[in-house]
Amino acid sequence: MVDQHTHLQAADLEEEVQADHPLRIQDLTLRDGHQSLFATRGRTEDLAPIAEEMDKVGFFAMEVWGGATFDSMHRFLGEDPWERIRTLKKHATRTPFSMLLRGQNLVGYRNYPDDVARAFTERCCVNGIDVFRVFDALNDFRNFQTVVEVIKEQDKHFQGSICYSLTEERMGGEVYNLQYYLDKAKELEDMGADTICIKDMAGIIAPYDAYRLVKSLKETVKPPIHLHSHFTSGMGDLAMLKAIEAGVDIIDVCLSPWAYRTSHPAVEPLVVSLRGTNRDPGFDLRRLTKCAEHFKEITPKYRHLLDDRITIIDANVLLHQTPGGMISNLVNQLRQMDALDKLEQVFEELPRVRRELGQVPLVTPTSQIVGIQTVNNVLFDSEEERYKMITAQVKDLCYGLYGETPAPIDPEVRKKALQDYPRGSEPCSCRPADILEPELDQARKETEGLAKDIDDVLIYALYPTTGKKFLRWKHGFEEMPEEVKPRTLEDVKREQELVEKAKRGELVEKPVKEAPGKGQNLRTFNVFVDEEYFKVEVENTDSRPLISSVTPMGGQAQQPQAQAQPQQQPQPQQQPQQPEPAPSEPKQEKSAAPASGAGIPVEAPMPGMIIRYEVQEGDSVNEGDVLLILEAMKMENSITAPSAGTVREVRFKEGDNVQKSDVLAVVG
Ligand code: CO
Repeated sequence: MVDQHTHLQAADLEEEVQADHPLRIQDLTLRDGHQSLFATRGRTEDLAPIAEEMDKVGFFAMEVWGGATFDSMHRFLGEDPWERIRTLKKHATRTPFSMLLRGQNLVGYRNYPDDVARAFTERCCVNGIDVFRVFDALNDFRNFQTVVEVIKEQDKHFQGSICYSLTEERMGGEVYNLQYYLDKAKELEDMGADTICIKDMAGIIAPYDAYRLVKSLKETVKPPIHLHSHFTSGMGDLAMLKAIEAGVDIIDVCLSPWAYRTSHPAVEPLVVSLRGTNRDPGFDLRRLTKCAEHFKEITPKYRHLLDDRITIIDANVLLHQTPGGMISNLVNQLRQMDALDKLEQVFEELPRVRRELGQVPLVTPTSQIVGIQTVNNVLFDSEEERYKMITAQVKDLCYGLYGETPAPIDPEVRKKALQDYPRGSEPCSCRPADILEPELDQARKETEGLAKDIDDVLIYALYPTTGKKFLRWKHGFEEMPEEVKPRTLEDVKREQELVEKAKRGELVEKPVKEAPGKGQNLRTFNVFVDEEYFKVEVENTDSRPLISSVTPMGGQAQQPQAQAQPQQQPQPQQQPQQPEPAPSEPKQEKSAAPASGAGIPVEAPMPGMIIRYEVQEGDSVNEGDVLLILEAMKMENSITAPSAGTVREVRFKEGDNVQKSDVLAVVG
C-alpha cells in the first residue's frame, strides 16, 4: 500500500486544495539548460533581464553557475564568470542560487590542491551561491571533504550528489546496483548532506528504476531526495513522474524553450500534470509562460549552436548507455581526424576501455578521459600493442589522482600507464588532494600586475592558459577578439539574410572574384538546409558583416553538429596569432613540411591547443622525450620526439590553436 504522502491523488474537491507534500522544483534554464543545448554560451546580458520574473515563481533554487559556465565564459564569451553571479543576484533576491561543483575538480577538469579548493569555494559563497550540488566523477567522496568543510563553515546548503551510472541495460549487475546507491547515500548523510541528489547526467535512468531507487532511498536516509536527469534518451519526463510517485522531494526542470533534446524535462507540462494532486507545486502557469517568452525571443542568437539532428531524442544513448554529449564529442573528434568511418570500432572499444579503467561513471571529466583514450586506441593502436598513446589524464587516473575507481583498474593497463610517470610507478591510495602541493601563492605571483583581486587569481589558478588570456582582455592589456564579443539580434538577422542571398547564388560570384584575405575575426557557421550543408565564413568589417566564403558541403546534413563541447565548434583555419620576428634566413611557411634532410617534422595528431612546449629550439632530445603538451577535447596529450636529435624548430607558441597535421616542431 502506497502511503498518501507519496501517492499521486487527484483532489476530490473542485476548489484548490493545499498539497500535503508539494513537489519542490529547481530551475536549470540559466545553467544546465544552455550548457546542454547551446554549448554553455548563454550570456549574462540575455539571462539577467528575466531573472527577476523567475525569482517570483517559487523555485526551490535556480541553478545559475558552475559546471562548464566558468570555462565557457572566460574562454569564449570574454565574460568574468564571477560577475555573472553578482549581476543575477541583483535581479533575483529571493530564490536561492545553486551551482554545480565538481568536488575537488571545482569547475575544471583536474583535481586542484586544497588551498585553491578552499579559496574558490569561499569566493563562491561570498559572491552569492547558496546551494552547492557537489559531485565527484568517481563517486569518491574523499574528494568532497575540503569543499564541504567550507560550505558548512559558510552556513550554506550542501547537496551531496551520486553520479548515476549503469554497466548494463537496467540497474543491477556488479557495480551499479541498488545497494551501491543506498551505500553512497548513507555516506553522504553521514557527511552532513542537507539534501541528496541522484545525478543522472546521461538521461539513462529508466522510470521504474527511478521509482525503486527513490522509494528505497526514502526508506534508507533522512535528507530530502533530489532527482536530476536529462531528456536525451526520451525517458526524462517518465522517470520524473515515477520518481514523484515514489516520493521524490525535489526535481530539476527547464523552461520549455530551453527544455528537451539533451536538456531537461520542461516545467510547464509537469505543473499542469500535478495540478490538484497532493504533489501540486502550486506554480502560476501564466508566470512561467511569461518567463518562457523571454527565452523564445533571445534563442535566435543561439540557434546556430543547437544540434540540428532530425530526432529530438537520441536512441543511441539507450543502445550504448553512453551520455549523448559524449557520443557527439566522439563523432566530432573522429570527424576532425578524418576518421568518421571508425565510429563503430569506437563504440566497440568504449566499454572495454571503460572496464579497464575501473568502470568509472561517464561524467565530466571521466567521460572525456574514457572517450579520448578510446579514440586514441582505435586510431593509433596496432595488433601487437594496445594503449600506444596514453593521455596524461589516463596516467593520472591510473595513479589514483582522481580517486578510487568503482572497480579496480586493469593491472596491465595501469602498469603501462605508469611507466615513466613522474610521480612514480606505484599508484597511491590516499585522498588525491593529499599529494598535491599548494598552488595559490604561485598563482598570485604569476599574476602580479595582472590580477586585481582573488577572483582574478582564481581564474588563472583554475585555467592558466585561457585564464591569463582572459585577464589580459579584462584589464585592457589586449583587445578582446571579435569572436568572443556578443552578437545582437540584428547581427543574427543580417547574417541570416546574407546566408539566404548566398544560397540563392547572389553572393557566390563576388567573393570568388575579389575575396579579401581571411582575417582573425572570421566566424564560421554551419548552415543546414534540407539535405545540404553550407560552411559559411563571416567577418565583420566596418561593422558590416562580409561573407568571406560559402562552401556547399553536400550530403552531410544528417550528421550531428558540434554540441555542448566548447572545443568542437567549427573553427576557422587559424594561422598563428603573431608573425614570427623577422627571421635572419628565409623560413618556410609554418605548416609546410621541411625540405628533406632538415629533420623530422612532428605533426599534430589531432586538432587542439598548445598548452606549452617543454623544449626550445636548439635543445637536444632523446627519442620519446616530451616536446610539448597539446590539449585536445580538454585532454592533455604529450607529443614526444620521434627520434634523438636537436630541436630545429618550434613552430607555435602557448595558446595557439593548431589543426591536424600542422607541423608543431622539427627534430633532427
Ligand atoms: Co546535468
